[in-house]
Amino acid sequence: MTIDQKYIDQFINVTSKAAIASYHLVGGKDKIAADKAAVDSMRNELNHLDIKGKIVIGEGELDEAPMLYIGEKVGKGTGPEIDIAVDPLEGTNFAAHNLPGALSVIAISEKSNLFHAPETYMEKISAKVSEKGIVDLDYSTKENIFNLCEYLNKKPENITACVMDRPRHKKIISELNNLGVKIKLITDGDVSGALLVTDNKYGVDIFLGIGGGPEGVLAASALDSYNCTFQGRFLFNSEKDKERAYKMGITNLTKKYELNEIVMGDSIFCATGITSGDLVSGIKVENNVFISETLVTHKSSGKKKIIKKVTNR
Ligand code: FBP
Repeated sequence: MTIDQKYIDQFINVTSKAAIASYHLVGGKDKIAADKAAVDSMRNELNHLDIKGKIVIGEGELDEAPMLYIGEKVGKGTGPEIDIAVDPLEGTNFAAHNLPGALSVIAISEKSNLFHAPETYMEKISAKVSEKGIVDLDYSTKENIFNLCEYLNKKPENITACVMDRPRHKKIISELNNLGVKIKLITDGDVSGALLVTDNKYGVDIFLGIGGGPEGVLAASALDSYNCTFQGRFLFNSEKDKERAYKMGITNLTKKYELNEIVMGDSIFCATGITSGDLVSGIKVENNVFISETLVTHKSSGKKKIIKKVTNR
């Protein structure tokens, strides 16, 4: 089964509208307000679609999120049953402080084909490698870099690794430095970080480190269309997190997930720029219209494209 191409434009519209809603609050120093604007818009647009949608990754669980919570039903209740992962505003700090890289993101799959990720951290690795056994979460940083060098026929000093600038990555960063690997440090936004391996134009060969679990699933759904490697392993810091995971059906808490265990079957991924970043440009206002850019992937049709959209003010 595949997801009909007609939904591509509909989901581009959903993330574009959410991006525009958040754009109005860019630079306003209020990340909660910027997030809320994107959430409200996304929920409203989703509820206009002819789908029987279920949020599998959203703003949190019912007790902590009034909208787009995990398990919430969206859509008109007609049409196909689909699972939906959302991050209406990915990079809340970016939007609040008018910094590059804020996105509005959605990924959809057919029912039961998208991993239900708990709100916890995830150890992640991505690379533009289609073969198994080249990069792997179980390998040391050194092993991953040496394997990648051999695979790409490059020297470590010609490899660039993208890593989030966090104290928890001190060891990885120092290992990469010792190997002479170039590092692209990002302050936030690891959906984008993980996707920078998809095209040589971004100059990133490997992404590694710990970030949000939901962001990992979203990135994986796009990486699936690019024939890239992605692996993720959840990290649970508290008993409460572990209980939540058990409730979601995760019994093996230390399991390493391969891409095809995170996204199964067909998928559509859309990421619209709010502020301009590595992947896409941010919202622009010209005359009486908004111009948005959305990175779209649709696995079954092989579509991988940046789409410009004009929306009336
Ligand atoms: P928000 O948009 O929710 O602020 O998330 C931004 C982000 O950088 C994600 O891309 C990343 O997965 C996560 O935060 C990392 O979390 P932390 O800031 O706790 O390291």
